[in-house]
Amino acid sequence: MKVFFKTYGCQMNVRDTEAVRSLLERNGYAFTDDEAAADIILVNTCSVRGKAEDKAIGKLGLLTAGDRRHRAIVGAMGCMVQRLQERIFNSVPGLDFAVGPRSAWRLPQLLARVCSGETGVLAVDGGESVDNLDELDGHVQSQSPAAFINILYGCNRGCSYCIVPQVRGSEWSRSAAEIINEARKVVAGGGREITLLGQSVMRYGLLNPVWDADYASSRGYSEPLPRLLEALDAIDGLERIRFTSGHPSGCTSELAYAMRDLSAVCEHLHLPVQSGSDRILERMRRGYNVATYLEAVARMRAAVGEVAFTTDVIVGFPGETEEDFNATRELMEHVGFLNSFIFKYSPREGTAAADMDDDVSQDEKMRRNRILLEDQNRRAMLLNERETGKKVEVLVEGVSPRNTERWSGRTRRNQIVVFEPPGNIECGMLLNVKITRVMAQTLYGEVV
Ligand code: SAH
Ligand code: SF4
Ligand code: F3S
Repeated sequence: MKVFFKTYGCQMNVRDTEAVRSLLERNGYAFTDDEAAADIILVNTCSVRGKAEDKAIGKLGLLTAGDRRHRAIVGAMGCMVQRLQERIFNSVPGLDFAVGPRSAWRLPQLLARVCSGETGVLAVDGGESVDNLDELDGHVQSQSPAAFINILYGCNRGCSYCIVPQVRGSEWSRSAAEIINEARKVVAGGGREITLLGQSVMRYGLLNPVWDADYASSRGYSEPLPRLLEALDAIDGLERIRFTSGHPSGCTSELAYAMRDLSAVCEHLHLPVQSGSDRILERMRRGYNVATYLEAVARMRAAVGEVAFTTDVIVGFPGETEEDFNATRELMEHVGFLNSFIFKYSPREGTAAADMDDDVSQDEKMRRNRILLEDQNRRAMLLNERETGKKVEVLVEGVSPRNTERWSGRTRRNQIVVFEPPGNIECGMLLNVKITRVMAQTLYGEVV
């Protein structure tokens, strides 16, 4: 049986798809990247905004149209399954099975049932042990030189607009030994870079113990994330380490020192700000204000030097005035984000913000979205122009998707670099590239 995957949502979903693929391969299923050739199609869904759900429902609707005997078996996994539970079978009547993010390890058994003719099979989190998730994780082989590793499941923050805590459950940190083991496997499989994933990744190890009692940090770190970074930095052949998403409360001096002193830890931080207005941040229950956010940025920059900051922003949150919006523009300019992901507020059932009046019109959300994108392009262009003529270290990721004559990779600051490949090029190589030309999203250069 050949399985095809379609993945929506964040990096965590990308990682879950990979993990499920390797789990199914270990259980005798084959993978295909040709949808038409698949016997089983698994759609990994996201619930974070209404539009994300609409896309998955649309795709699932197309896939399940017609008589099951003449089409592939179709299943849904991920956050939307956890949110809708059995209601997903009303939204997608022909759906054969559905599995939530914390139950994905049960897929081999579920698929066996579906293959023997059962339909409407559902598995969602009933508070299973996270040990089963650990088992699902554990890298087997990296598909690219840059791999994702889950370090923190779930989220306890409860931002007022956000569905994630409902669908991903409570915060739980994986044991450091498991993570280190997985990172070693990534390197053994040809990987050179890892990104540690957690919704609020700097909370790693703050709620449950992650180290054996006798572990001592040789640099004297006391906080769990810096300790983990130190241990990972020591792995031979692991060139780069990133972690995402950050939160200002986690930008401690110790973490800043770890970013400064550990050579594999990249000078890049994704630090979602969401808004530049204290009033809106308060209503979002983000747990910081503009001043504390800026302090966090300054602390990291003071220790590390040039940290590239990227961010997420929501426009049109309930009650957001033109003044609030302008404060966001100002803050973004002030920090100088190298990249930002801008989202139009989307009310999510069961969240605190869903009870607030969604009073910014769709047109106005679109206008604010467009303005921030234009600002971002202009800003990124100016920031990138400073790189012209400089030599940057690029981790080679593969043939450029836009122009197959060229290859591309990323800098430590996470900028995409496109270049003419030298003869001996391979994925996972580190190259020095001299930047000759820049765009807002891409740098172009020559290998030196
Ligand atoms: N855990 C991450 C964010 C995960 S969701 C963090 O806290 O940084 C990714 C982004 O989607 C969020 O940062 C936010 O900008 C956006 N988002 C989340 N819920 C949203 C909603 N209801 N409407 C619009 N955007 C939303
Ligand atoms: Fe959602 Fe906030 Fe948790 Fe991020 S930190 S996943 S925005 S609740
Ligand atoms: Fe979406 Fe779930 Fe990620 S809701 S953003 S796929 S955690």
